[in-house]
Amino acid sequence: MSELSEFFASVSITVDKKLEEVFAEQKTSASERLDEAIRWSIFAGGKRFRPALIFASGRTFGVDEAKLSRTAAAVEMVHTYSLIHDDLPAMDDDDIRRGRETCHKKFGEATAILAGDALQALAFEVISKDETLAVEIRLKLIAELSEAAGKMVIGQQLDLSAEGKEVTPSGVSEIHACKTGALITFSARAGALIAGLDESRMTGITHYGARLGLLFQISDDILDVTESSDILGKTAAKDVSANKATYPSVYGLDESRELLQKVYRNTLDALEMFDVPTDHLAELAHYVKNRRS
Ligand code: IPE
Ligand code: IPE
Ligand code: MG
Ligand code: MG
Ligand code: MG
Repeated sequence: MSELSEFFASVSITVDKKLEEVFAEQKTSASERLDEAIRWSIFAGGKRFRPALIFASGRTFGVDEAKLSRTAAAVEMVHTYSLIHDDLPAMDDDDIRRGRETCHKKFGEATAILAGDALQALAFEVISKDETLAVEIRLKLIAELSEAAGKMVIGQQLDLSAEGKEVTPSGVSEIHACKTGALITFSARAGALIAGLDESRMTGITHYGARLGLLFQISDDILDVTESSDILGKTAAKDVSANKATYPSVYGLDESRELLQKVYRNTLDALEMFDVPTDHLAELAHYVKNRRS
């Protein structure tokens, strides 16, 4: 196992443990069906990229894992909620997610909508009750995560409104920055925020996160046309059939691959301002550029 896969494996274990812990804290489970739907989607084997980014960013700036893990669980909850809703018939209408039936296929649309809603609410509760962090830090994290979640929703609307339309290069970048970039930027910032970085270094980490988020969605768009459903754990070639605004649809596949390289280099450039080793953050960018699922 490479060092990076070991890192992802350990992130998954830590985050899953924390998720179990916060679900157990919910003393009164009013609906078994809702719990089952939430667990179906969140414990389906996602990559845990956003939590990994929080840990990498926190570790880079000297924060203990214990202070990062509730925020990591929270961002994974918001992300999983976004996937459950993204797959709904009214949105991307997908049947497969994380290698299994989508939440609404298994539990029906109403329960899937509610599972997403519940995950989003719980994410903020989890940060608000994080006793490893000072109250001001919790408040900052809540403010930033709510802003990022709102931006993600705007991105989802822009994505749906752009279906079947001619989209400009800046139009597709804006969609990507919102629907995917916002949560990834939050994740990069969260570790640094918990570390108490000053304003100018927070700006540096923001640039890194925003470029990494764009890199992540460009690679998602490329994988949609180059990989199989089996490898992706979701239906491949879905963007073309839905007439989505993607990098390949705007630039073609070859140019999208070149842009992926360019955005990768820009992502690394953003790390140059730091006076501590940023290998973990650079490795994550490399991982995103080369990932196959
Ligand atoms: C998929 O995200 C949706 C996008 C924002 C591109 P991931 O590729 O991180 O999905 P999981 O969490 O591994 O399932
Ligand atoms: C993902 O966009 C954005 C969010 C889920 C917020 P996609 O629609 O491209 O994601 P996949 O390809 O279904 O995972
Ligand atoms: Mg979508
Ligand atoms: Mg989708
Ligand atoms: Mg996609």
